[in-house]
Amino acid sequence: MDHFLYRDGTLCAEDVALSEIAAQVGTPFYVYSSATLLRHFHLFDTALAGMDHLVCFAMKSLSNQAVLRLLAEAGAGMDVVSGGEYARAVAAGVPPERIVFSGVGKTRAEMRQALTGGIRQFNVESEPEMRALSEVAVELGQVAPITIRVNPDVDARTHAKIATGKSENKFGIPIARARAVYALAADLPGVEVIGIDVHIGSQLTDLAPFEAAYLKVAELTEQLRADGHTIRRLDLGGGLGIPYAQTNEAPPSPQDYGDLIRRTVGHLGCEIEIEPGRLISGNAGLMVSRVIYVKEGADRQFLILDGAMNDLIRPAMYEAHHDIVPVVEPAPGAERATYDIVGPVCESGDTFAKGRTMAQVGPGDLVAFRSAGAYGAVMASEYNSRPLIPEVLVQRDQFAVIRARPTFDEMIARDMIPAWL
Ligand code: LLP
Repeated sequence: MDHFLYRDGTLCAEDVALSEIAAQVGTPFYVYSSATLLRHFHLFDTALAGMDHLVCFAMKSLSNQAVLRLLAEAGAGMDVVSGGEYARAVAAGVPPERIVFSGVGKTRAEMRQALTGGIRQFNVESEPEMRALSEVAVELGQVAPITIRVNPDVDARTHAKIATGKSENKFGIPIARARAVYALAADLPGVEVIGIDVHIGSQLTDLAPFEAAYLKVAELTEQLRADGHTIRRLDLGGGLGIPYAQTNEAPPSPQDYGDLIRRTVGHLGCEIEIEPGRLISGNAGLMVSRVIYVKEGADRQFLILDGAMNDLIRPAMYEAHHDIVPVVEPAPGAERATYDIVGPVCESGDTFAKGRTMAQVGPGDLVAFRSAGAYGAVMASEYNSRPLIPEVLVQRDQFAVIRARPTFDEMIARDMIPAWL
């Protein structure tokens, strides 16, 4: 459920008409609903009620400071994967004891940054990383709390580019080697094992792979405890999927997911951490764009928008589907048309949808891409020297620009021409 509904014939974000935002900030832009972000966070929080838990928002999905502040104030922790994300989380006011550090290639500089600033735990992904972390912590006179990410060799049944839990993926240590790696951890002076971490992929629309992975983690918890390790925290990753098309069957709910967690690992008495990104931010955001031209091709019509692949890369990168709807509500029985929906970037991959049938629109009309809150703005680039598009946050009847569109001069000023030229 989201808070983007037609009212009086125009699509609104909460109580604000998108046309009003477009008039003020220009197109294209991203817009987020505070109510949807908070609703989705609370769904997870409630689903884990009764268990000692922390919902750490995977901020790679949407990392604007305003969004982080909103979620942190609601009690969220953050899952960060780089020094930049760590710095953003801290700058937004997230308490360090609610920040977990994931990622397969943490550098020593990043480890130092998080140990100095404070961290809830590192999710370690390999022996060399664990040795490096131990050395850095010893240098700083600290002991780093860690979980070790295991790779359970489970097929997440999602797009290959975002599946992470099969043995051929770069993530985690093979679960079969876990006991040996935990034994090594126990011998290192700069790390303290507190638990286990697992994350098998993103946009999962079925609970079965989660169940398979969590049962393996439960079994491993008992083995490791028998080996003498303290396992008091389980980080179960993120990955619960969202419905990208309104016609699709809804994926399992956070409540179903919470019940599964209770059933598979609830008896172990561990503190539970989860790292959802997409389910919190995905349907909380739209990308709004304007039709520039409708062009007649040899055998098709092209709807040419002012938004492009550099603004929203998911269709080009993952063949992802996003519903695209007119901002002015189509009258009942209004004319429909079939388009290839494309942006102005100079490659054919800059295609949002092929053969998409929707209400007919024309030059100057606004359209909204649904489910664009997650992995939208954060994956944008300035390819074709198109400035990063602004982000807007709505709360009831108010809206604020939370990242401004850079001017051409600002964009160009980041380059420097050496004195010898
Ligand atoms: N935790 C870890 C360790 C992760 O790698 C990820 C996502 C998450 C949590 C959050 O997963 P979520 O709840 O958002 O599914 N750019 C792709 C998605 C990449 C996901 C990467 N890892 C897309 O646009 O679909």
